[in-house]
Amino acid sequence: MTPPSAHPAPSAHGSGHGPAHHHPDTDTDRGQDHDQTEILDLDAEVLAAHTASLIAELPVHTGPRHIVDLGSGTGAGALALLAHFPGAELTAVDSSAVHLDRLREKAAAAGAAERLRLVRADLDAAVWPDLGTPELVWASASLHHMAAPDDTLRRVHGLLAPGGLFAVVELAGFPRFLPENAPEDAPGLEERCHAALDRHHAERLPHRGADWGAALVRAGFTVEQERVLRVDLGPSAADTVGRYALAGLRRMRGGVADALTAEDLAAYDRLLDTEGPHSLLRRDDLRVRTERTVWAARRP
Ligand SMILES: C[S@@+](CC[C@H](N)C(=O)[O-])C[C@H]1O[C@@H](n2cnc3c(N)ncnc32)[C@H](O)[C@@H]1O
Repeated sequence: MTPPSAHPAPSAHGSGHGPAHHHPDTDTDRGQDHDQTEILDLDAEVLAAHTASLIAELPVHTGPRHIVDLGSGTGAGALALLAHFPGAELTAVDSSAVHLDRLREKAAAAGAAERLRLVRADLDAAVWPDLGTPELVWASASLHHMAAPDDTLRRVHGLLAPGGLFAVVELAGFPRFLPENAPEDAPGLEERCHAALDRHHAERLPHRGADWGAALVRAGFTVEQERVLRVDLGPSAADTVGRYALAGLRRMRGGVADALTAEDLAAYDRLLDTEGPHSLLRRDDLRVRTERTVWAARRP
């Protein structure tokens, strides 16, 4: 969750985010964060079962008492971790006040507010706030936003209790929603958008798609698990999938519009026009197809 202009494009995660080095201190930044909040919440909702199974299969031997979530966003991971480890307290760190506010609301609704500490901090800064000595650190779709991820990994190594686990989750890219031959007036449009988006991100997020397993080893970790989770969700989640597709494609538009032909852009805008006959929300063939990889790395 990576893009410019009025309609920032999504980053890996289905959630766009401004520049890799993020300081949401202007009204524009706050507006972008509000847009991303919706996508992060929809992503969390659609992929809740996958996130829960991913957490359940982490090689965690005894329930951690303290967990840190780096780049927590609106809490897709934080809330799932608190639910899975009822004896744990969690510190959520993010540079976005908008995301942390949303996480506070969601934690209160889930009855987990008392076990959650929110820390607004820029993880690229020279000094991190005191995050205690966690037994589990979680970073989902956030490491590729860091300016110097090797430094971040070394800091996490220093932060963790000996024997503690670092769970890194990264996504192959923004999810696909449309069938390959859709839409009827511009078949293959979504793949052309993703190709444009990849070029757009190559400059802005150079660490997207990095080899995190090798980076973890360089930082002194022992990688105990590397799993790829393939997600393909269909019509059973139809309403949420439609809203997720609409929010995601709206946000992606800014990052790809310049690279599309006039015909493709017109077809794109017809998909986004919720009043029109070609609206994404009228389609019954949307799916969420995506892939996420998790690395579980131990601090010896
Ligand atoms: C794509 S979102 C992922 C959010 C969440 N982990 C999830 O899985 O839904 C990336 C998050 O990292 C945060 N972030 C990006 N750069 C950051 C930095 N330098 N310091 C702290 N947080 C940062 C963003 O604000 C955003 O909430």
